[in-house]
Amino acid sequence: MNQIQIFSAPNAAAVGKIAAEMIVAAVNAKRDAVLGLATGSTPLPLYGELVKAYRAGEVSFRGIRTVNLDEYVGLSETHEQSYRYFMNENLFKQIDIDLSNTFVPNGTAADSAAACDAYEARIEALGGIDLQLLGIGLNGHIGFNEPADTFSKRTHVVELTESTREANKRFFASIDNVPTQAITMGIGTIFAAKKLVLVCTGEKKAEILKRSLTGDVDPRVPASILQFHPDVTVFADEAALKLI
Ligand code: GLP
Repeated sequence: MNQIQIFSAPNAAAVGKIAAEMIVAAVNAKRDAVLGLATGSTPLPLYGELVKAYRAGEVSFRGIRTVNLDEYVGLSETHEQSYRYFMNENLFKQIDIDLSNTFVPNGTAADSAAACDAYEARIEALGGIDLQLLGIGLNGHIGFNEPADTFSKRTHVVELTESTREANKRFFASIDNVPTQAITMGIGTIFAAKKLVLVCTGEKKAEILKRSLTGDVDPRVPASILQFHPDVTVFADEAALKLI
């Protein structure tokens, strides 16, 4: 089992700060790095810090390429709840990244399976992911890899679980508006990244964080695969770490 590095901070804002320091250092060390990015509420303070660092002249994203973990099937990039829209608004438009170097799975492709293959090919053409940022779902999902009998391999279409749709309905008018499917990098895709960085905040994540980092490595807790990866850093607040 590999040693997972865990950094604790007092609250979500502080987690964003220390995680951003690592990303800024990675970008400054490799100007054309491929960053795997994540959506959800947890990375928002981190993205805010990256914008701050850019405005302060501490970092440039001009040569950086990004690939996002996932996207809802059926939501176009102008839909306010699409992950492409989220990334554009919360990060890309506020930094000097070239938008044509940013990639998110295509949720509106007529052929979703072909879109998944194209996404894998894209990641390969970029030379693989240097650093993959992750959040974690309440059921241990990473990207949209839901609990399953086996670990998924590559980018694929998933049926979202009711618990995930329930957790994400806060962003939609009602649960009926939450898409039922998503395209997500597979566990194999995520695992192939050279470095994994997990951000996790809030007491309601404490139980699943503990199971993921210290329990059995089990596809029913997708994030538990992190225990087998050689380079994992976790940034979490005290509330999320209270059981570890
Ligand atoms: C979504 C995303 C995940 C994210 C998770 C947790 O379902 N697909 O990538 O990690 O939710 O989100 P939050 O950070 O809002 O708790």
